[in-house]
Amino acid sequence: MIEFVDVYKVYKGGVVALQGASFTVPSGTLACLLGPNGAGKTTTMKLIMGFLRPSSGTVKVWGLEPWIYEKEVRSRIGFLPERPIYPSNVRVYTFLKHLANLRRVPVSDVHRVSKLVGIEHLLDREIKTLSRGYVQRVGIAQALLGDPELLLLDEPTANLDPRARREILELVKVLHRDLGVTIIISSHIIPELQEVARYAIFIDRGKVLDHGSLEELARKYVANAIYVIESSRPRDLAIELLKKDYVRGIYVHDDRVEVHVDMDRVNDLEEYIKELAGRGMVKSYSFRTAYLGEIYEKIVGSSHG
Ligand SMILES: Nc1ncnc2c1ncn2[C@@H]1O[C@H](COP(=O)(O)OP(=O)(O)OP(=O)(O)O)[C@@H](O)[C@H]1O
Ligand SMILES: [Mg+2]
Repeated sequence: MIEFVDVYKVYKGGVVALQGASFTVPSGTLACLLGPNGAGKTTTMKLIMGFLRPSSGTVKVWGLEPWIYEKEVRSRIGFLPERPIYPSNVRVYTFLKHLANLRRVPVSDVHRVSKLVGIEHLLDREIKTLSRGYVQRVGIAQALLGDPELLLLDEPTANLDPRARREILELVKVLHRDLGVTIIISSHIIPELQEVARYAIFIDRGKVLDHGSLEELARKYVANAIYVIESSRPRDLAIELLKKDYVRGIYVHDDRVEVHVDMDRVNDLEEYIKELAGRGMVKSYSFRTAYLGEIYEKIVGSSHG
């Protein structure tokens, strides 16, 4: 749905913000655009919005080049910029209503989006009286006006305290689940997106180092997969699992067992878990996809030689 092919972006003055960036984001994905300061995250989002034209290469969104089909593409995207500027002394409702009118969206949509982000009780407040976390919710609310197919959130957790960060990320997860919208969220703080990311694009100094679903990336870069198996007989289960040579480590807890296994033997382990489930030893199991930090270290490490 989003496709970058060998994209270069050189700003006036000669700064090369993107140099040969290629990646795709499939429809319906909650994708994280991850990279340090100056990596090219904001530039990437501006290219998707059609605010910028690539110096070379192609950017396509729904098969359209955004800088050419600006209006059509933009009307289907909700964008939360990195440093949004809000009018002072304006009530939340007035602000959202004004944007709804500008974008030719029915004013009734203000109530829908306010509810979605949990600010319906704050509509009468002036924006400047809100905490940063709630200002950010107003920003997400405006991005949701008109029910866009794609949400671009440029560092939505920047400058928030840890609790507000978690709340915003939780909100992003819920919006993705409930609206089925494609979301791209950028950040330079990799571990905080561990809970959110199912798809990642790693960018550094204008180059996309790698991208894909977390499962694909984990298989490529992480030596051990970790499975968490719930069981009423964790000790018996651990003894059974230890019989397999591909099991690298086992940690027994009260009601679950954590199993570390060679990444290229996950299929064997899954088969075995199913067999053990048939013998009543397994309640449920999950593959832990929270490898973001480790994947990042591997990818960045190898790119720096
Ligand atoms: N309008 C501009 N004119 C000139 N150079 C720019 C402009 N915008 C960005 N740059 C430069 O392009 C590079 C990429 O910037 P970009 O803002 O895309 O990175 P970023 O990943 O969003 O960084 P951050 O984490 O700091 O937000 C940086 O070197 C930046 O200084
Ligand atoms: Mg940026």
